[in-house]
Amino acid sequence: MHYTILAIESSCDDTSAAVMRDGLLLSNVTASQSIHEAYGGVVPELASRAHEQNIVPVVDAALKEADIAKEELSAIAVTLGPGLMGSLLVGVSFAKGMASALGIPLIEVNHLQGHIMAHFIKVPDEDKALPPFPFLCLMVSGGNSQIVRVEAYNKMEILGQTIDDAAGEAIDKCSKVMGFGYPGGPIIDRLARQGNPNAFSFSKPNIKGLDYSFSGLKTSFLYFLRDRLAEDPDFIAHHKEDLCASLEKTIVDILMKKLVMASKETGIRHVALSGGVSANTALRRAFEEMGEKGKWKIYIPKFSYTTDNAAMIAMVGHYKLLDRDFCPLDKPVFTRTTI
Ligand code: KG4
Repeated sequence: MHYTILAIESSCDDTSAAVMRDGLLLSNVTASQSIHEAYGGVVPELASRAHEQNIVPVVDAALKEADIAKEELSAIAVTLGPGLMGSLLVGVSFAKGMASALGIPLIEVNHLQGHIMAHFIKVPDEDKALPPFPFLCLMVSGGNSQIVRVEAYNKMEILGQTIDDAAGEAIDKCSKVMGFGYPGGPIIDRLARQGNPNAFSFSKPNIKGLDYSFSGLKTSFLYFLRDRLAEDPDFIAHHKEDLCASLEKTIVDILMKKLVMASKETGIRHVALSGGVSANTALRRAFEEMGEKGKWKIYIPKFSYTTDNAAMIAMVGHYKLLDRDFCPLDKPVFTRTTI
């Protein structure tokens, strides 16, 4: 007997479906929404409409690529939250309808647990080192910046998190201020490669414990630019590489400082990175350095599993299916950040 899961993710602006059989990923199809680029951020109403258009073709493509008929499915796993209400409703309503029509169970997945469990995704014949429990995970995305202690695939504790903006949100806002496109992360990453990370310095937060704050950095960056632009209207064009490299370094320093503290406090030296910002070259480099120095055993996910995807939802779903941990069809979506 096989355990075959169809997973659906629609919490923000990516419509994604994946098929997993016996814990191995068979397909992972994602339709991203370029429409938001023109607005410099995700427009919730437009995101819901695009999910509505994408959901059927994306699910069809995932089943076809996996060569699985819907009658072969054992369960449907879906992101129930956190995320945008309208976006979540499209994926969840679709999943509930399909589970009900096929007479198979529905499995609810927390999006943030999905990002963390992305480390466990394996394709057939792949041999890779999985993080042993307990491990620490730095979860950095457009909506979250958290240090999570992972005890088991379904037992996680937030040790610290941002008290205001997420790291990705700060990056995207600074990118907008410089007149770059959305999302700003990949653009800043690319420009930073040619810049000097020590060219400029921006204020770092002084927050107790393992929590983060990024709103002060955003304001400091804004005022810095305002003052420099008053002297030289072309300041951004002349210094964009150095600006990006210095901003990136500040953010990486802030993230790593608390993570090092968390590792010292807990004594846990298996450390993983998750979420969209984990695609960042400087952050990956800082992680790799900790690994090279022998301080940590590090786990960095493949690029394709760092941004929103249904493969990670299938991974959580797989373990829940083994536990027969199912979700009633009348359970509502949730928008707040929890784990
Ligand atoms: O996890 P994600 O795809 O979406 C959620 O927020 O759930 O993360 C998106 C965030 C955006 O803020 C984007 O600018 C950032 O990840 N990002 C990056 C890079 N690629 C994406 N930030 C820095 N460097 C990158 N290479």
